[in-house]
Amino acid sequence: MLIAQISDTHILASASDLPAAQLRADCLRRCIADINQQHPDAVIFTGDTVQHGQPEEYARLRELLAPLQAPLYLIPGNRDNNDAMRAAFDDKTYLPESGDFLHYTIEDYPVRLVALDSTSSGERKGVYCAERQAWLDAVLSEQPSRPTLLFIHHPPFDVDDHYIGGYRRAEEATALTDIVSRHAQVQAMLCGHVHCPGQQHWAGTLASLMPSVAVDLRKGIDETEAREQPIYMLHRLSEKTGLVSEARMAEAAT
Ligand SMILES: [Fe+2]
Repeated sequence: MLIAQISDTHILASASDLPAAQLRADCLRRCIADINQQHPDAVIFTGDTVQHGQPEEYARLRELLAPLQAPLYLIPGNRDNNDAMRAAFDDKTYLPESGDFLHYTIEDYPVRLVALDSTSSGERKGVYCAERQAWLDAVLSEQPSRPTLLFIHHPPFDVDDHYIGGYRRAEEATALTDIVSRHAQVQAMLCGHVHCPGQQHWAGTLASLMPSVAVDLRKGIDETEAREQPIYMLHRLSEKTGLVSEARMAEAAT
């Protein structure tokens, strides 16, 4: 099974006159063109899809996503607005029609996809409240033998010095770690939010961080080599190899 991951596109409205508006649109457009050439089974989008959570930004996002050929699975980041996202993507029947959280499971593939909503309105930190913990524990308990990929916007641990204590709620993060530790079928947790690449052993599985698709917000990449190149992730899963991931630079625009 081949999964492409995009994250942190921070799309602005078509009417925006900020230079970043066109740049970020081009980054997403190039990634989609490249993803289509890879023919993934699914594409996951780990949040911060737009910059301000505004309907006109989601309208622009939908235009840019239209050429994508593979099924798309979105979760919100702290820049998103759950109601506006739900309204803009009302054709995505996996998104709950009501309730506070946009999390869900996808059962259509050999690998089960579990999407956890870590956002809370007006909150920049990841939130893993008791209700979400209970939901995650319940869904992971349903199918303990089935390979599972967990995806979430906020990694539930510190990343780099300036994240310590600022981007997480320690007790909630510890509780989430304990839950995932009890479910050995979780092959990996795929995250966004930090805008930089990284991997970390976490909760008995692998946590994978990806750079922002928006190159103007990206961190941790050699800027002299790759300043203009948008990057996305390809995750290949098989019984023989487990999870094999690569960061792929989208080909230059034609
Ligand atoms: Fe972001």
